[in-house]
Amino acid sequence: MKRVFIKTFGCQMNVHDSEVMAGLLIEGGYGITEDLPEADVVLLNTCCIRQKAEEKVYSQLGVLKGFKRRRPHLVIGVGGCMAQLEGRRLLERAPVVDFVFGTHKVFELPDILDRAIAARGEPRLRREGSKIISIEEGGSLWGGVKPRRKSKISAYVTIMRGCDNSCSYCIVPYVRGRQKSRPSQEIVEEIEDLNSRGYKEVTLLGQNVNSYKSQLDFADLLREVNEIKGIERIRYISSHPRDMTDKLIKVLPELSKVCEHIHLPVQSGSNRVLSRMNRGYTRESYLKIVAKLRKLIPHISITTDIIVGFPGESEADFADTMSLMEEVVFDGAFVFRYSPRSGTRAASMPEQVLDEIKIGRIKKIIEIQAGITRQANERLIGKTLKVLVEGPSKPDPRRLAGRSRSNKVVVFEGPSDLVGMLVPVRVAKAHTWALEGEIPVNGNHLPNDEECCIMQETRRIKGGMG
Ligand code: SAH
Ligand code: SF4
Ligand code: F3S
Repeated sequence: MKRVFIKTFGCQMNVHDSEVMAGLLIEGGYGITEDLPEADVVLLNTCCIRQKAEEKVYSQLGVLKGFKRRRPHLVIGVGGCMAQLEGRRLLERAPVVDFVFGTHKVFELPDILDRAIAARGEPRLRREGSKIISIEEGGSLWGGVKPRRKSKISAYVTIMRGCDNSCSYCIVPYVRGRQKSRPSQEIVEEIEDLNSRGYKEVTLLGQNVNSYKSQLDFADLLREVNEIKGIERIRYISSHPRDMTDKLIKVLPELSKVCEHIHLPVQSGSNRVLSRMNRGYTRESYLKIVAKLRKLIPHISITTDIIVGFPGESEADFADTMSLMEEVVFDGAFVFRYSPRSGTRAASMPEQVLDEIKIGRIKKIIEIQAGITRQANERLIGKTLKVLVEGPSKPDPRRLAGRSRSNKVVVFEGPSDLVGMLVPVRVAKAHTWALEGEIPVNGNHLPNDEECCIMQETRRIKGGMG
């Protein structure tokens, strides 16, 4: 049996696509290995959202080139967003690659791999051309496949593919295609199956989950998923501010399993920049959504994405972003330097911002946000959170780690049979990256609304931040 090693770059969508690929390959008679030296096939599932993401892939291919010299029979395939975008160019730039398959071809992977192996002269199949490119649109989107998930507790579930927006900086619509929503019945069936196999949490995945549209909209889909017995927690990522309807905001607090966390990328606090980004909302309308969410769900944790150095971003625009961050008090933020993506509108805008300015701005924002997040977390010291235990902590495998409903990582000591369970943990120490705590002696009792009170309190740090 040939063993395949899969390395994933990029977002949750890619992480889950890799799980789907692994499931398909197992069904197709391949084995999966976590150990590179054991592999007969290496697949890179790539990302091209920023230049840095592409550079990582090329550097990985450089390492694989040396590896393949020692193992000439190794087959190397590149899939995902960068493969979709680059196609044949990727083969030309990195001749070590045997085949390229795009984002629309995930469900044909076992077939494509069979052909690539055959092309390398294996007797099993007829010899064909030496390199294979499979990136054209079309083909199956969902299939009845069983993804091979790493976690046994928390599962990603794709609810849509592609994106119909056209943010001027973004390459995703070019590599993922038009938005297609998965039939709700299929989503529900997949989650029921996950429940029967002991999963406790699902994260609904899409570039823009709240624009989901089948016979149901996203609010109604959440209602249906909330009805599924056994599953304890529902998360969803990412939400677009433009599609935060009043209906959706109102339904969130009504659904007991939907966690009090929303990732709501704002990108910028300047209306001038938001309009040039073609985001479809203003600073004011974003703040209004935040206010509505906090009114109905006072304990909600809100995280965001920010781009600094978008073409034409002035000091005043940047100051608007900083002030928005202080005003909102995000629980966390991913901050990126704008990276021009060839073919997008923003890449050809005049007034590209110099790298050193971008670096200065990103440093400032990260510093401000680190302070906000740490102070928010410090407010949790002494409080008790309900934690879904996911397994040993990565930086300290002697301890356990899990997440609160508000998506805070909590590290604590406890027996390994707690994995997969919901346990109360009293917070003892706060960092920006995580909380540390312990199971209280009389830890079986946790008032239902305790976490609500806690998160409400974190909002009050704003005064302290000035
Ligand atoms: N569909 C999601 C985002 C997907 S990409 C949404 O709209 O919310 C994840 C993040 O990458 C984006 O939110 C944005 O902050 C960042 N990003 C996208 N294109 C970028 C670029 N060209 N340069 C820098 N950051 C970018
Ligand atoms: Fe990109 Fe905008 Fe679509 Fe998000 S919504 S994937 S940022 S085009
Ligand atoms: Fe990257 Fe593709 Fe996701 S470009 S961010 S892996 S959708």
